[in-house]
Amino acid sequence: MKALKKDEAVSIRKAIAEDSEAMWKIDQTCFVQEIAFAKEVFLYHLTVKKNPAFVAMDDDKSVGFVIADRHDLETGLIITIDVLADYRRSGVGSRLMDAAENILKENGFSFILLQTPIDNWGAINFYVGRGYRKLGMLEGYYGKNKDAFLYGKEIMEKS
Ligand SMILES: CC(C)(COP(=O)(O)OP(=O)(O)OC[C@H]1O[C@@H](n2cnc3c(N)ncnc32)[C@H](O)[C@@H]1OP(=O)(O)O)[C@@H](O)C(=O)NCCC(=O)NCCS
Repeated sequence: MKALKKDEAVSIRKAIAEDSEAMWKIDQTCFVQEIAFAKEVFLYHLTVKKNPAFVAMDDDKSVGFVIADRHDLETGLIITIDVLADYRRSGVGSRLMDAAENILKENGFSFILLQTPIDNWGAINFYVGRGYRKLGMLEGYYGKNKDAFLYGKEIMEKS
């Protein structure tokens, strides 16, 4: 029998509060301490803010996630998207972003903003490939001498 490709074995579902620990662990593998989110941040997004979030599951193992949020009445925000290194470049990140963008669209947002470290070329290529364009630089966004680029994308045509 033909073995499943990695992305075919991975399913995407809505995140629940119990996913917060696994999300934090994935984030710890993706970012240095200065940039990684504290553990409580994940629970806050899922339970207090009740933000839309999705996890990528390989069986019962969490291998990636995305968290969205609201910036203002018309603009949604991607808080972060992380995929475990072993699962990258097989479409998992794209499926997570599809889920996040679709729910922001369903919730009536017409534009999406996100930030990324200016040297995070992998993520920048990923976002640009999805139609995000650079809107500016946020100096010191991640701390002293750690700047971010602000990217944005229209997701709904204005009527
Ligand atoms: C950015 C990230 C979420 C992408 O996830 P992924 O599952 O690898 O993404 P996909 O496989 O869906 O990639 C889709 C396309 O994006 C582009 N892309 C993704 N990662 C890339 C990289 N490292 N370098 C260049 N292009 C990249 C490619 O065009 C890719 O298509 P291809 O593989 O057919 O060439 C993942 O690299 C990640 O978790 N990085 C660490 C955490 C992070 O930086 N998150 C962003 C926070 S701002």
